[in-house]
Amino acid sequence: MSDAATTTAKEEITRPEAGQQVTVRIDDVAFGGEGVGRVDGFVVFVPLVIEGETVEAEITEVKKSFARANLIKVVEPAESRIEPECSYFGDCGGCQYQHMAYEAQLAMKQKQITALFERIGGFSEDKVAPVVACPQSFNYRNRILIRSQWNGKAKKLLVGFRKRNSHWVVEIDDCKIAEPALNAQIREVRNNPPNKGGVKVNLRVAPEDWMVPDHSFFQTNYFMLPRMVEVVRKIFQSSGSDYLIDAYCGVGFLGIELASLAKRYAGVEYDHRAILAARENAAKFGGDNGEFVEGRTEHLLPELLAKFEDGNTTVILDPPRKGCAPTVIGQLREIRPA
Ligand SMILES: C[S@@+](CC[C@H](N)C(=O)[O-])C[C@H]1O[C@@H](n2cnc3c(N)ncnc32)[C@H](O)[C@@H]1O
Repeated sequence: MSDAATTTAKEEITRPEAGQQVTVRIDDVAFGGEGVGRVDGFVVFVPLVIEGETVEAEITEVKKSFARANLIKVVEPAESRIEPECSYFGDCGGCQYQHMAYEAQLAMKQKQITALFERIGGFSEDKVAPVVACPQSFNYRNRILIRSQWNGKAKKLLVGFRKRNSHWVVEIDDCKIAEPALNAQIREVRNNPPNKGGVKVNLRVAPEDWMVPDHSFFQTNYFMLPRMVEVVRKIFQSSGSDYLIDAYCGVGFLGIELASLAKRYAGVEYDHRAILAARENAAKFGGDNGEFVEGRTEHLLPELLAKFEDGNTTVILDPPRKGCAPTVIGQLREIRPA
């Protein structure tokens, strides 16, 4: 590009100012839920919007290459815009998409995941399977974390979830995505609140059969478990491999569910209590053709891969949100399991 063209492009982009009201068309919804639009060429993120909508928003923060804004009014709503079920929606930080019809949420997630795989890994669109819908889009979560917070100004102990983009707590009596049994637990906590602020209360409907220690991970949506196992089972079966490694295995759920299809399997997990529970779960559910090893996947994966035949081993990766350590990906790229 010539110098003149660069200068012209730069000059055309004027940064908005904090407090300014803008009208913006939403071109995309980024991973995490913020809508992306442009005001005079400058990128503005607006929450609680849908691709294709035109909205009025107030700029709240201006950075070097983008700004953030609060939604004031939807000028041209998308067809998929609906009334959120939850009265706390928008204020509470727990949900991002209740203003969209469920089908539209699924399509948007599909687009986001496909774009991430394409941008970061160079994978083509057809490598990403369609999102599997949940049989129920509300009252499905089996675990939530509520917090207490002392509000000095109001001289009141708040009990609820974190507000959106804030450290403050919004008081909650009822959560639309939590299982009904958890809502009963929320009310119990509200009626008998902790005696101070800063307390986190972990509420959970434990699975009926699986042994899960209090603070160990278990899949948070029981309605999706059969579908999830089905997807992983099909991939394992179509690989034709005999051996299975369940990396980041928690209490052994996926490895044990698939154990009968493997000659041998191994799980790795760094939560000590989860590994003890995984061994008990394996004994209970007949997964005795495998072992559960305690430690970090990034440290133990080479050892586990060496136990099984290269090209005849499938590795399940179900890491925490921050993802796998880069060395794990490096090891898998080298070995190229089935
Ligand atoms: C998303 S959960 C998956 C659990 C399991 N696959 C299941 O279906 O129940 C991720 C698990 O990885 C564990 N974890 C996190 N970092 C780890 C690491 N570096 N090495 C081994 N386990 C790790 C966490 O304790 C958690 O149990």
